[in-house]
Amino acid sequence: MAQRLAARYYLGMLGDTLTLAQLNDDPDPYLARMRAEEPVCWVPSVQMYFVTKWDDVAYVEDHPELFTAATEPSFLARTLGESMLTLDPPKLDRIRSIMLPSFKAGGRSGEFAKGELRKMADGILDMIVESGDSSFDLIERYAQPLAAGSLAKVLGLDHHSFDQMWDWCCGLVADISNFEDDPELQAIGDKTKAEISEALEPFLAKSRASTAALEGEGGPGQVGRSAIDAFILGGATSEEIINNVRLMISGGINEPCEGIGLVAFTLLDRPDLRKRIQTEPQKMGRLVEEVLRLHCPVGTVTRQATQDLELAGVAIPKGALVSGVLRSINHDESHWDNPMEIDLDRRQGPHAAFALGAHRCLGEWLGRQVLRQGVEQLLARFPMLTLDPERPMIVSGFEFRGPTELWLLTGE
Ligand code: HEM
Repeated sequence: MAQRLAARYYLGMLGDTLTLAQLNDDPDPYLARMRAEEPVCWVPSVQMYFVTKWDDVAYVEDHPELFTAATEPSFLARTLGESMLTLDPPKLDRIRSIMLPSFKAGGRSGEFAKGELRKMADGILDMIVESGDSSFDLIERYAQPLAAGSLAKVLGLDHHSFDQMWDWCCGLVADISNFEDDPELQAIGDKTKAEISEALEPFLAKSRASTAALEGEGGPGQVGRSAIDAFILGGATSEEIINNVRLMISGGINEPCEGIGLVAFTLLDRPDLRKRIQTEPQKMGRLVEEVLRLHCPVGTVTRQATQDLELAGVAIPKGALVSGVLRSINHDESHWDNPMEIDLDRRQGPHAAFALGAHRCLGEWLGRQVLRQGVEQLLARFPMLTLDPERPMIVSGFEFRGPTELWLLTGE
């Protein structure tokens, strides 16, 4: 239905020949053309309208009654089950208010970031040092285990190995970004979804029993408890916890992993920036923000028109899928000065790498900590670290875009 209606309203041209493979390879030239020539653009290969300018995406994000997150069909709901990312306010607000505190400075994430995070990073770096390797792939050997381990620790799932968490993340992400409906990717997603349920159901039963016992003793509150215990204490059902933990495993590992790679690459590729951070370490936070803005690991937010409407002069039919392209709005020339530059003194407000509206990233505080402390620890441990000139960074993807390999030389 959505496809037939979308075809009827379709007037654009730019999206006609655009393929997912082209976007995965290098989306920026296509997005720049869309911003200049057709900022709301129908893209037949993915059956979505791409919205590429800041003000228009902000409008989409500000109007969930017109652009719902409960899309039909939804790769996300198929892969994860109903999660907060497929609910609109006000239904969304209850579950977010239960889950958000654990990912803020005052919750489990804050405790983790105070000392455990650097310790975990050091433990992973020890293994690289002990291997005696003078060159290594940062993504596989450091960014993946640190990102997976951080989320596992905060959730209270650290009895699962780094590798297990990472495999689950990859299985879910394969299906969530399955825009072309590949049945093989869907099978991987289904298998992963079932595996996570099997692992979590008995774990939740045990956690419920222990939190109930503690509550009987006067209630422990949320301080000192894992995030999953805090969700139980907050009144989340087991189904809500399992589906949203799947969402966290898919987004809360892959993105920090890519972010660690991108921040490390930027500092190693730009000696001027590295020098500035050495003399002004307080600028590291700004660097992380600029890297997230420029490289924007999550490419889009997908919503669905709840009625026939118009956006930036383009008619969009009820039921059409609308993709707010976060990467593009982070480069929007009408919103940013020198958008393709990393500017540590930029004063132009927040970027959109964590999205803008009701679904703004739940784990942004934790994500920032993992990127910042992760890269600081890496460079403190390997001060002579350089990029390996023989093996340049490999970056790919559109929905999730980041380095798949980043080879470094320890210089030792
Ligand atoms: C650099 C790291 C990260 C980036 C760039 C990132 C990016 C994003 C973006 C763009 C969204 C909005 C998606 C949409 O509206 O369709 C989002 C939502 C979300 N993120 Fe993150 N994320 C990161 C880290 C994390 C971490 C560490 C967690 C751990 C819990 C997490 C959990 C979530 C959840 C649960 C949502 C859904 C929120 C909702 O629907 O209300 N993210 N993230």
